[in-house]
Amino acid sequence: MNILVTGGAGYIGSHTAVELLNAGHKVVVVDDLSNAKYEVIDRIKEITGKKLDFYWIDCADKEKLWDVFRNQDIDAVIHFAGFKAVGESVRKPLQYYRNNLDSTLTLLEVMEEFDCKKLVFSSSATVYGPDNPHPYKEEMPAIQSSSPYGWTKVMIERILTDYCTAHPDFCAILLRYFNPIGAHESGLLGDDPNGIPNNLMPYIGRVAAGKLEKLTIFGGDYDTADGTCQRDYLHVVDLALGHLKALEYAAEHQGVEAINLGTGNGISVLELVTAFEKVNDMKLPYEIGPRRDGDLPAFWADAAKAKELLGWEATHTVDDMCRSSWLFARNASI
Ligand code: UD1
Repeated sequence: MNILVTGGAGYIGSHTAVELLNAGHKVVVVDDLSNAKYEVIDRIKEITGKKLDFYWIDCADKEKLWDVFRNQDIDAVIHFAGFKAVGESVRKPLQYYRNNLDSTLTLLEVMEEFDCKKLVFSSSATVYGPDNPHPYKEEMPAIQSSSPYGWTKVMIERILTDYCTAHPDFCAILLRYFNPIGAHESGLLGDDPNGIPNNLMPYIGRVAAGKLEKLTIFGGDYDTADGTCQRDYLHVVDLALGHLKALEYAAEHQGVEAINLGTGNGISVLELVTAFEKVNDMKLPYEIGPRRDGDLPAFWADAAKAKELLGWEATHTVDDMCRSSWLFARNASI
């Protein structure tokens, strides 16, 4: 298939582009490089030894996106493009709503004009909001979030659901990611955010590399076994492979389907730190600090639907995630 990957120079998009190329698909990437580097495109080519077409455009720019569809025979789209920093979204809500919603609406309009009916969307476990019990199951209400970033995911899921009602021959797969970490085994691709990282693993990577002094663990007094928050961390390569499975499913089906991509296991911040130290044979300076606003004590996926419907399950271990994260972080350019 000829797959358009929006946001394909980003962390999850680039790993997905690699797996698509490895599986023999043709890949077209559009990315405005607002939070990614051009170098990533070269690295995708280097890892796979294959060509891909790259367009440096904002996918909310309808004319330019239209040109991409006119020049390429796109069979399906994986839509990653969007702003993703939770804290920043609280400070700049309009920017988040404008960017994330506009890019999706524009993409759908152009897909409709070119009769392209298969879409895999990069959603998040944040759509389960603060009130559902864990493990999260797809049939639970997924209608609220705790940040404008998260609300854009809720709203886009709604838009895609309504679009599928109006166009029963369209297929939209809403992939609800848990906490992706880890990096490509080559050490060439990984999570390398601009500025000081908000997410746990890139922060750990920069502390390990001596670029940041110490990790602050947000809260040691939660009602969990060791007092720190628990999350369902999954390897980004497993996540990327989940997108391939979702595409295969979308090729054969119609309608909307929400699917969790997680391991089904929760581990704590302290457990992750300890695993990172052990597998990479180092000590990580850290302190326990106050809780971060908006953090939930614990959540993880019920991963049964992904296995049943897509035949997908995560295979990488926490040690694999810690080892590959460090391999990337110690070579990362920032
Ligand atoms: C958040 C978002 C999720 C988004 C994901 C990736 C929510 C509820 N979750 O997940 O939607 O997809 O980011 O962008 O909005 N931690 C520390 N010290 C740090 C950084 C993090 O202790 O310096 C802890 C946090 O308290 C949390 C865990 O590490 O318990 C994971 O945090 P993080 O990587 O930011 O992801 P989430 O907040 O779970």
